[in-house]
Amino acid sequence: MALIVVGVAGGIAAYKTPALIRLLTEAGHRVRVAPTEAALRFVGRATFEALSGAPAPTSVFDGAAVVDHVSLAADADVVVVAPATADLLARYAAGRADDLLTATLLATRAPVLVAPSMHSAMLAHPATQANLALLRARGVRLLDSPSGRLTGRDSGPGRMESPENIAAAVERLLGPADLAGRRVLITAGGTREPLDPVRYLGNRSSGKQGLALAEAAARRGALVTLVVANVSEPIPYGVELVSVSTALELEAAVALRAPEADVVVMAAAVADFRPAEAAVAKIKRDRVGSLTLELVANPDILAGLVADRRPGQVIVGFAAETGDEAGAALEHAARKARRKGADLTVVNVVAGGAVFGADTNSVVLLSASAEPVGQAAGSKLDVAEAVFDAVVPRLSAC
Ligand code: CTP
Repeated sequence: MALIVVGVAGGIAAYKTPALIRLLTEAGHRVRVAPTEAALRFVGRATFEALSGAPAPTSVFDGAAVVDHVSLAADADVVVVAPATADLLARYAAGRADDLLTATLLATRAPVLVAPSMHSAMLAHPATQANLALLRARGVRLLDSPSGRLTGRDSGPGRMESPENIAAAVERLLGPADLAGRRVLITAGGTREPLDPVRYLGNRSSGKQGLALAEAAARRGALVTLVVANVSEPIPYGVELVSVSTALELEAAVALRAPEADVVVMAAAVADFRPAEAAVAKIKRDRVGSLTLELVANPDILAGLVADRRPGQVIVGFAAETGDEAGAALEHAARKARRKGADLTVVNVVAGGAVFGADTNSVVLLSASAEPVGQAAGSKLDVAEAVFDAVVPRLSAC
């Protein structure tokens, strides 16, 4: 039975935290609640104690005999802070320990998940953004702060993630470490092929799905190398990073590392063609009048990986398809899966560009023989977990 420590800071969203505690206890977990004094202005201590079946102290002096902040910190399997207010984030980022919750956060080595919630203006302030960036860089998992109606009449980002989504994120952190010791190589983002020193041919991949794959693999215990092409999103904690820009650079980076990898996931959107020549100086409008570009083919990196695959290695490809109907897109993807021969193909229907830059995704997984072997929809992290759920049995089978 896992122990989940639920930290509660003093924000209006604290009224939803009892629902989170209920979800966690109903899932069979032990819960200890560590509210701040300010949180108790929103929800009474009796509510937290009754729902968790345990004392809910705010101060390190309350449970001095059992040194609660040390025992909670040591025994927790996950610490989740919901809501995490601007003040709590600032104190956590600064390493303060002036109440039981911050002392526990400082002392624990368990994974920490925070659900920021505050007014949009406070969330957007550079001080809060800097605190969030610092915490993320230290390995704290940050949940989104969705947009919607705020406490007053206004709307905007800063609401707390729903108790259901927070509970699901906790479950993910408790999930199996079934890639422990495995080397996983992931590519993410979109390549850029230079036309001249200031222009390029590119694509709309944000890299978010590849980053989510890296986060999921790291959470499952893998040694992750992430080759990113032109990604501006924050990189998950604990992942080895290699930055490239063009398809040829990506190919070289992958070629160097693939032989060592147990799993290779080609999530990057690789340009199929590049300009035959990149101009050394900026192409001038008045000098060329009209312009015809000559493009040459880039190598198919995934096909090369499959050709050189060593026994026991699992190779995952993506297929971005834009058929008018989902059926047609799947047909194209099945042909691509058979042609490329990856062990798994993750099919993304990108009609209308809906998936690019979005936080959610919907995919179908195809086997090497193009049989549908699974599907997933939800956050890009949910999709990433589903991909590795399908990878793991293929690994152990080897
Ligand atoms: N891919 C690759 N090298 C390329 C192009 C694509 O390794 N030059 C990989 C992608 O990373 C992805 C898979 O191949 O895992 C399929 O990419 P996609 O763009 O859907 O397919 P293409 O092979 O480019 O086919 P088409 O553009 O004809 O749909």
